[in-house]
Amino acid sequence: MADAQFTPRVFSGIQPSGGLTLGNYLGALKRFVDIQNAGTHECVYCLVDLHAITVWQDPADLEAQTREAAAFFIASGIDPDRSILFNQSQVPGHAQLAWIFNCVARMGWMGRMTQWKDKAGKNSENASLGLFAYPALMAADILLYHATHVPVGEDQKQHLELTRDIAAKFNHDYGVDFFPITEPVIEGPATRVMSLRDGTKKMSKSDPSDMSRINMGDDADTIAQKFRKARTDPEPLPERYEDLKDRPEARNLVDIFAALSERSTDAVMAEVGGFGWGQFKPMLAELAVEKLSPISDEMTRMLADPAEIDTVLARGAERANAVAEPILRRTYEIAGMVGAEK
Ligand code: AMP
Ligand code: TRP
Repeated sequence: MADAQFTPRVFSGIQPSGGLTLGNYLGALKRFVDIQNAGTHECVYCLVDLHAITVWQDPADLEAQTREAAAFFIASGIDPDRSILFNQSQVPGHAQLAWIFNCVARMGWMGRMTQWKDKAGKNSENASLGLFAYPALMAADILLYHATHVPVGEDQKQHLELTRDIAAKFNHDYGVDFFPITEPVIEGPATRVMSLRDGTKKMSKSDPSDMSRINMGDDADTIAQKFRKARTDPEPLPERYEDLKDRPEARNLVDIFAALSERSTDAVMAEVGGFGWGQFKPMLAELAVEKLSPISDEMTRMLADPAEIDTVLARGAERANAVAEPILRRTYEIAGMVGAEK
């Protein structure tokens, strides 16, 4: 990897398409905060509104959800002075670089994306062109900042491999070493938080059952009730984490507990091995309420002043643009666009 020539920089994004869950918190936000606080990388975090509209979004809802997502970032511990926080549509380079990458990426690559297959389903004739091109825009998000590392949940791994392919093909086709080959960062016990009703399905805002997920806005009683009713098997918890291998629902609850308490799964098993569900579930609910309530209280407080959120996002967009603009210009120049060298 030609990493040394690139500033260590993290980029990640979340779609402001509503319904932020515990999966988003543990799989994404909490890790974004940890990376910011470690101070090892410049951090660029983006609310990807252009991605959101690849499926229909009511404009008023999109606006509200973008502010809600911004509040979620800040309430979770993203400091908009230390990290760059903004919404994608306000930095024109995302759409501009995405066009270049639409011309680099191949139809066949896009057609193999499992998220495309899942979202377009059998009715792909009727899906938007944007949904098909989604991964090229995602590659543009990342490479517009020459990001070296991208923290995401497991579900985004394939898109990151495609981002590497796009960077490599651009570099190869134009005979340059311009875009970094970005490393995905998929680590920790909660890269794949599963549904509370079915341990083989990802916890998702789009699941029809609200009992399957913890929403970032759920109150303490709702959180407790959802964990109490979470599907499990009848066995008590084993002594060793390995013995949860074939017990997806049980393992999911242990993973959530470990991630929330910031301990390894082995340390958690040393404490709770042998516990029955009547003992473990209330502990988990209490911990979740303790960690999540301050975030949702802070979100509520911030959302009472939307103008303040808009100011933060506008400042973030300005800072993002200052990093992006020279990289876009150089890309145009490499591609032979007259006037780009100015
Ligand atoms: P999305 O809400 O689909 O835009 O996802 C935003 C981020 O949250 C991405 O990094 C996802 O990988 C992550 N994420 C979403 N759902 C989950 C989940 N159930 N478990 C772990 N990470 C998740
Ligand atoms: N596709 C990601 C998701 O649904 C969101 C996203 C868009 C993203 N652009 C990104 C994540 C760039 C990481 C980096 O979760």
